[in-house]
Amino acid sequence: MPGGVPVLLALESSCDETAAALCSLDGRILAAQVASQATIHRQYGGVVPEVASRNHVLHIRSLVESVLSEAGYGLSDVVAFAATAGPGLVSSLLIGTSMAKALAVAEGKPYLAINHMEGHLLSPFLDGQGPVRRSVALIVSGGHTLLVRIHEPGRYEILGRTRDDAAGEAFDKVAKMLGLPYPGGPELDRLARMGDPTYLALPRSFMVRDSLEFSFSGLKTAVLYELPRLDLTKAEVLADVCASAQAAIVEVLVEKLVRAARHCHETLVTVSGGVSCNSGLRVALTERCRAEGLELLLAEPELCTDNAAMIAFAAVQRFNAGFTSPMDSEVNPNLALV
Ligand SMILES: Nc1ncnc2c1ncn2[C@@H]1O[C@H](COP(=O)(O)OP(=O)(O)OP(=O)(O)O)[C@@H](O)[C@H]1O
Ligand SMILES: [Mg+2]
Repeated sequence: MPGGVPVLLALESSCDETAAALCSLDGRILAAQVASQATIHRQYGGVVPEVASRNHVLHIRSLVESVLSEAGYGLSDVVAFAATAGPGLVSSLLIGTSMAKALAVAEGKPYLAINHMEGHLLSPFLDGQGPVRRSVALIVSGGHTLLVRIHEPGRYEILGRTRDDAAGEAFDKVAKMLGLPYPGGPELDRLARMGDPTYLALPRSFMVRDSLEFSFSGLKTAVLYELPRLDLTKAEVLADVCASAQAAIVEVLVEKLVRAARHCHETLVTVSGGVSCNSGLRVALTERCRAEGLELLLAEPELCTDNAAMIAFAAVQRFNAGFTSPMDSEVNPNLALV
């Protein structure tokens, strides 16, 4: 065992990214790799579950071998095996969990079933920002928009969630309406940098009340109603519409996170999930948190979208607290964080 440090191996396969990572029991990521299928699914305009599952099978074994050799470890050095058990696509989740269980059985080591959202939730504490501290967290991903109070690792309280679309879904659906390629969020972000965010007056949901809940379906409808009078063949119009939609989403996310921090009297806020890659969101959060005297921890961009480093880090917290999972534990596409 290099350096005598015990390590945990984790797998992530909840959607269309196959990933493996090794994390030391003191919370350092020693190796992490992701095989993305984005180019495969682009031709269908979204993730095709059956295709995703088959591609996980093709990549998962070589990813395990690759992270072990990158860190200079052998399978027998691994003290526990973990995998994302939900939420996600059943046929995709089954590949990572089956592999992790098989390795655990073969090596006679424990298995841990990890909640994908706990991975996102704790990802801002990776890269030497740990240990996990009391805070208010915003998770903004493709399937979730959650405000969560972190009391300590494993003890979480949901403060608010979306009533309809997730923030990532709002980005992707608006992008699709504008004719941008899948996945639309990053492309909308790129074009928004060149546009005028005041071009369209789009709705900011629930801004007038104290609610910590979100709703993005109205924004989608508002963009849809504007479409007939927009000449999207003009690059500047397209950029202006992207900037307007992004501003509407970002303003709501920033305002509600600050509101939640005030409500809980917490001074540390964290942000994670694919949408936290968004450049406009990162700038707005940094400025607003500075003005409000809040400490902000943003997940590193490569840790915002799906990866196994965050799953390994969450698994290490659980393993160190004495938790393991039974071998007959099942995947759950709707697994709740709390
Ligand atoms: N720069 C960006 N700006 C806006 N959205 C982005 C950006 N980069 C990624 N996204 C969005 O992030 C989402 C993907 O994030 P992530 O991988 O965390 O979600 P997911 O794993 O599909 O969903 P969940 O974690 O809720 O199951 C997509 O909706 C994508 O468009
Ligand atoms: Mg995710």
